[in-house]
Parts: sequence; structure tokens; C-alpha cells
Amino acid sequence: MTDPAEPASRIVPVERLLKAGADAFPGALAAKSLYPDSQFEVILVRGPNQRNDFHVDPYDELFLQMEGTIRVDTREEGGPRRQLVRPGELYVVPAGVPHSPLRPAGTWGLVVEIRRRPGDVELVEWYCDACGGLIERVSMASSEMIESLGPLLEGFQADERRRTCGDCGHVLPRPGPFTLDEGA
Ligand SMILES: [Fe+2]
Repeated sequence: MTDPAEPASRIVPVERLLKAGADAFPGALAAKSLYPDSQFEVILVRGPNQRNDFHVDPYDELFLQMEGTIRVDTREEGGPRRQLVRPGELYVVPAGVPHSPLRPAGTWGLVVEIRRRPGDVELVEWYCDACGGLIERVSMASSEMIESLGPLLEGFQADERRRTCGDCGHVLPRPGPFTLDEGA
């Protein structure tokens, strides 16, 4: 919980962090948690990212895009969906909807999540980009995510057999840095 005795620490100079650029975001994740003690998990994220996994978590997830346009892919009842989120726009992914945020270089945005509780479980999934079938689904305790996610993603990308669709035999390519084709 945010400490009410420390009001100064409750102000975050987001614009200044953006201007500081990549230096303010050490590490491969390019993400910074702004309120580590709050009930909200607020993360400032820069692009590019490179991923083809989908994430399923037990709470709604809010995207506020600040600079540049990102694409958030989701798997919904009606099928796959690609949503562009432009600067100044909010977008919410409902709890339980598989989502994959794709961020081009130079983009900046905030992600607001509900902080996980003990016992929460989340999923990481990969879908075939040829037939849409599920290739792999991994379930893990939310408390393990920070430590386990990196090795899980690396292990999947390194293993062509795991990236091969059991339905159609297509091999899901390893992801490169995301670039946005707004016509796609
Ligand atoms: Fe497939």
C-alpha cells in the first residue's frame, strides 16, 4: 500500500522520465514500475519489444498510450483481434482475455494493472499465425512470473519443435523488434 506519510514519493515526473529516454529504463524489459508499494501496478513501458506470446491474467489491464502508436493483439470469442492504440488513447483488456502488446521503437505508454494477490495464477500462450490454433499454454503462479517469464520465453523461442503447430505443422517464427504496419 502507498505510504500516506510520504507524499513526495507519490508524485512521478512521467514527462521527465520520457525525456530521459532509454537510460531511465535499464534492462531488457524496458519497463519501470512507478509505484512498487501501491495496490496499483503502474508500469511505464517503451518500445520496441519483440514477442509473440499472449498473456492471460486474472484482472483487467489498462493501457494509456503516451507517444507513438502500439498494437494490442487479443484472442476473443469472435476470433483474433488487432487493436491500434494511439497517443492519448486509453484501452482496456478485460480479465481473462489473452493479449499481446506490440510496441514499435520510440513508443511510450503506461500500463496499469491490479497488483496480484497470493494464489493468483496466470497463463502464457502461443498461437499459430497460420491456422490460429493454440501451440502451447503454460500456467504459473503470479508470484513466479517475474523470475520465470524470461527463461520461459527464451526456452520457447530457442526450440523449433515447441514453436511448431500441432494442427497444421507451421513453425511460428521467432519474433524480431516490432514494427507497425497500420494497414495490417
Ligand atoms: Fe497452425
